[in-house]
Amino acid sequence: MLTPIRDRLSKHLEPYFKDKSVAELFEIPKELDHGHLSIPVFSLAREYKKAPPVIAKEIANQLLTKSIPGVARIEAVGGYINFHLDDLEIFSTLYNETKKAGQRLGFRSLGAGQTIIVEYSSPNVAKPMHVGHLRATVIGQALRNLADSQGYKVIGLNHLGDWGVQFGKLAYAYRRWGSEYDFENDAFESLYKLYVRFHQEAEKDPEMEREGSLLFKKMEDGDPELLKLWRRFVDISMNEYEHNWQRLGVKHDLVRGESFYNDRLKNVEKLLQTKGLLIESEGAMVVDLSDEKMPPCLIFKSDGASLYATRDIASAIFRFEELKVDASLYVVGAEQTLHFKQLFSVLRRLGFAWWSRCHHIGFGLYRFKDPNLGGKMSSRKGQIIRLEDLLNRAVELVKERMSQKAGEKERNIDEIAEQVGVGAIIFNDLVNDRVRDVEFDWEHALSFEGDSGPYVQYVHVRCASILAKSGRKVTEEIRGEQLRVLDSAEERRLIKSLLRYEDILSQAYQNFKPNILANYLLELCTDFNHFYHNHKILGGDAELIDSRLALVWITQSVIRGGLKILSMAAPQEM
Ligand code: ARG
Repeated sequence: MLTPIRDRLSKHLEPYFKDKSVAELFEIPKELDHGHLSIPVFSLAREYKKAPPVIAKEIANQLLTKSIPGVARIEAVGGYINFHLDDLEIFSTLYNETKKAGQRLGFRSLGAGQTIIVEYSSPNVAKPMHVGHLRATVIGQALRNLADSQGYKVIGLNHLGDWGVQFGKLAYAYRRWGSEYDFENDAFESLYKLYVRFHQEAEKDPEMEREGSLLFKKMEDGDPELLKLWRRFVDISMNEYEHNWQRLGVKHDLVRGESFYNDRLKNVEKLLQTKGLLIESEGAMVVDLSDEKMPPCLIFKSDGASLYATRDIASAIFRFEELKVDASLYVVGAEQTLHFKQLFSVLRRLGFAWWSRCHHIGFGLYRFKDPNLGGKMSSRKGQIIRLEDLLNRAVELVKERMSQKAGEKERNIDEIAEQVGVGAIIFNDLVNDRVRDVEFDWEHALSFEGDSGPYVQYVHVRCASILAKSGRKVTEEIRGEQLRVLDSAEERRLIKSLLRYEDILSQAYQNFKPNILANYLLELCTDFNHFYHNHKILGGDAELIDSRLALVWITQSVIRGGLKILSMAAPQEM
């Protein structure tokens, strides 16, 4: 967002950094005292054979003799050179760059030429999406959007759970009890009921498990009747999921369910065999991982049927060898950590150098403060909190609050409540460091004041309403050159926070942590509120009003952009 200034400074720094692309090395310090831009010189220590603080001082002293336009002060602090820029120059550059960037505000091209595949959501056919899927879905979509913001080509992948022995079981259940359910009108519920019923009855009659396995093996061997049935189960389920995804702003670029790898499994077997990795154990074929103190990775069952891991090996090969991706992110709960460790280890043993560019992006569980929503979640027993119910409840609660306050004018309550309610659920998830568990509390998630989605959305609304009230068409009527310096403590703080946005996007992506962005938005909103409460934005002379309106508009743009990356709506009114 400071590209012209970065470029100008880079020219002066290039001679010291030689072949390194300097413009990308700048950091935007969090604290005002440390300037607007800062460049670390640690990477020069070896070449210059000096300590970084000494190098920083020497370069800073030389730059000081050059009087670079727009630079107010240069300071060496530790291993950094800090640049304090001219307040007006910063502000007008920020405004012009924000206008220029449009939808791509804060985006960079650090990942240009590289392809990243982000796998997320990936529910299992016939099972409803429950709160456990929420994280795999929203964290994944946010990471997908973050990768996009860094200039990578991104493929958002749905590794749909559409293969495995459970389909044999479903087929069994369908053939035996299918006619008792209303597949005409309530297909998905019927399917799920069959799934639950199978597991209930199989507890009494273990023979059913064998029958199920047998039917699955037939599917794997290509039985057309069974495959037709399977196709139907998949379609019914996808239909149901689409609805959830749409509400959560989730889009996949590619669906490659586990079944897709069926005819690639032979190749997996061959590769493992060539490397001498496949050994027999109790009738099954496994890869021994005992040298890494892990249980063996199961590849084929004794009846020759494939397993979850087998299909994951095929999928990894597909991603790197066919799609030619540079890295693969698996957004999957921490309970599958061992599975991914085993998978990556097998890939390494197979000799694929790219195994180290596979990343399991794990996350913690949901815990409910409200005991009525808690309890054990097991989709086999039919006791789960459905994602849909959670979203509906949030929207309902928001609607109640809104209608209490309503009255001033007609508002599109349904649409806004959907945006705010769903946004609250998404934000409440993403604001947490993903590796931790999420403590879910309705009060907290839906609060309009606290660290919540509605709070951020509300500041967006506030910006929108100030701009509307002003009657100015900001971007059309106000040019960067007309701005006046805004130098109160609150204004400088807010500008400083806005400048950090593009660094925040990079950091959030590099650490695979959307909470870095979510927390930044909270801080930004607080900075905005300090500005708002201490200054009369629409008071003063025309030039001052315009300058403040420009600041409000930039804030609104950053919040909107940030919310979009978190896959949340930015309502105009609430
Ligand atoms: N379908 C799986 C589940 O719901 C998640 C898929 C994880 N991804 C993978 N490549 N194994 O548990």
